[in-house]
Amino acid sequence: MTTSKPQIPGAANGRVPARWRADIQHVLITRADIARRVRVMARDIQRDFTGTDLVVVSLLNGTVMFLADLVRNLPLPLRLDFIGVSSYRARTNSGELVFTKNLRLDVHSRDVLLVDDILDTGNTMSRVLETLAASAPRRVRVCVLLDKPSRRIQPVRADYVGFEIPDVFVVGYGLDFAERYRNLPFVGVLHPRLYSELQPPGEGSGHSSP
Ligand code: IMP
Ligand code: MG
Repeated sequence: MTTSKPQIPGAANGRVPARWRADIQHVLITRADIARRVRVMARDIQRDFTGTDLVVVSLLNGTVMFLADLVRNLPLPLRLDFIGVSSYRARTNSGELVFTKNLRLDVHSRDVLLVDDILDTGNTMSRVLETLAASAPRRVRVCVLLDKPSRRIQPVRADYVGFEIPDVFVVGYGLDFAERYRNLPFVGVLHPRLYSELQPPGEGSGHSSP
C-alpha cells in the first residue's frame, strides 16, 4: 500500500528565510520537497480508495496545510470532517488528551482516511483510532506528513507517511510550537533556545516537550 517513505531529501535543503532566521535553526524539508511528496502520497491514496465511500477525517489544528494540499491532489469523491484533540503537557510527557471537537459525519461502514500532521509517541493516534472504532467504519487508514518512529510508545503505524524524521522538534507547514509558526511554508527545526523562552507554564500546545 505505502510506497517509499523518503528520508529527508538531501543536504541541499533551503536556506532559512531572513524573517525566520532568529527562530529556526535550519530548514528540514523545503516547500518544493513537501509539494512533490504530497502529490505522490495523493496518488497512492487515490489508487487505494478509488470506488469507495471515502471520509477524510483530519485532526485539528496541525493538519490545515497538509490536508488542504493533499485533498486538492485527490481527484476522488470524498467527504471531509474534523476531530479536535489537544494534549496538555505543560511539564511532563504524559499528556492528558482532550477532545475539543467530535466527528459530525457518520462513518459507519465507510472507508476512513485519518490524517494527522505528525506521528510521535502515537498516544494521540491510538486514542483517536479507539474512538473511531466505536463507529464501526469499514476500514481506517492512517496518513501523516511526518513520522518520528524513534519516539513511539504506542504500537501504531501509519499507512501513508510523507517523511520519516529524526527526534527533533519541528515547526511549520501547520506544525506549531505554543501555537506559533504554523504559517511557515516549510518544515524547520526550532532553535532549542526558544523552548524555555516561549512555552508559558500551563500552556501545553499539544506536543512533546522538546
Ligand atoms: P503523539 O500523541 O505523541 O503521537 O503526538 C502527536 C501530536 O504531537 C501531533 O499531532 C503534534 O501536534 C504534536 N507533535 C509531536 N511532535 C511534534 C513536533 O516536532 N512539532 C510540533 N508538534 C509535534
Ligand atoms: Mg497535532
